Amino acid sequence: MRQTPPEAAQLLAWYDRHARRLPWRVGPAERAAGVMPDPYRVWLSEVMLQQTTVAAVKSYFETFTRRWPSVEALAAAPEADVMAAWAGLGYYARARNLVACARAVTARGGVFPGNAAGLRDLPGIGDYTSAAIAAIAYDEPVAVVDGNVERVVSRLAALETPLPAARPAIRHRMADLTPAHRPGDFAQAMMDLGATICTPRRPACGICPVMEGCAARDGGDPERFPIKAPKAAKPHRVGAAYVAERVRDGAILLRQRPGKGLLGGMAEPPMTGWTARQDGATDLSQAPFPAPWRIAGAVEHSFTHFHLTLTVWHAEVGDAPAGEGWWEPVETIEGAALPTLMRKCLARALA
Ligand code: ADE
Repeated sequence: MRQTPPEAAQLLAWYDRHARRLPWRVGPAERAAGVMPDPYRVWLSEVMLQQTTVAAVKSYFETFTRRWPSVEALAAAPEADVMAAWAGLGYYARARNLVACARAVTARGGVFPGNAAGLRDLPGIGDYTSAAIAAIAYDEPVAVVDGNVERVVSRLAALETPLPAARPAIRHRMADLTPAHRPGDFAQAMMDLGATICTPRRPACGICPVMEGCAARDGGDPERFPIKAPKAAKPHRVGAAYVAERVRDGAILLRQRPGKGLLGGMAEPPMTGWTARQDGATDLSQAPFPAPWRIAGAVEHSFTHFHLTLTVWHAEVGDAPAGEGWWEPVETIEGAALPTLMRKCLARALA
């Protein structure tokens, strides 16, 4: 069996002293005594930790494991209950996949697949999550690479290739660093190092357990890594929103966006079909009904991948048909599931 690389040995010795105590974690002393974590808890924590911070996940993890202590219990829960318990963690497709995965594992007798390749076939489990579960729950010596690990590895090697092109090289180096002995502790030690010492800004190189092997520290500017490719300019899209205001009571015509896609399931005033990839009409061609529409102004909004300018049309109307929408009373608009963009449209029209 391959020898433990020196950086891995130094990191493991540091982890033995400084491992964070986390609700889903079996610490290094317990693991050394032969205690392994429940794969259900490892899986649940890793899914929750995708795109969410450790601090935000802790209370959700405790609530979920108290309410659904096993994968079978979670599989038996109504999806709506799980979605409601997930509210606030974001990226709701993850919660739907969570239920689908719990049901798939329960159909296999409640036993998670015993290696990364088998785990990868389950709903909602990708390369990172399958590797993390296999390493942490089974001590499979696989490379576990998340955003923190990308940063640590690109600094250790002072990789000049920008992300995301550097990913294959990072994975390769992580595979070389991963020890055959204690790979689960090693994966968690890398995560802890990235979270507490090798931080994006102002890394604490002076107390780093692997400072001697770190090329970025030798170069004097570790924060420069990972190198990021210049961002592509965000496209600028246009569209129109139609804010219909009922004269007799001030109610506003709203409708629900489709469940999938941008702002899925949220409420909106009727609008034209803009997306990240295409413009929507800006004129009255898609107004919900004929009315004395006039332009109230424009609203600017930036999404992660594009900027949007909406022409806001406003009309004061009598009793008009709501079509597939509804007339939202003035008193309840504040509490409606209206994203910021939609609130901006209403404010512009009603100003
Ligand atoms: N981030 C993602 N997975 C984690 C884990 N198991 N421990 C700490 N931080 C993490």
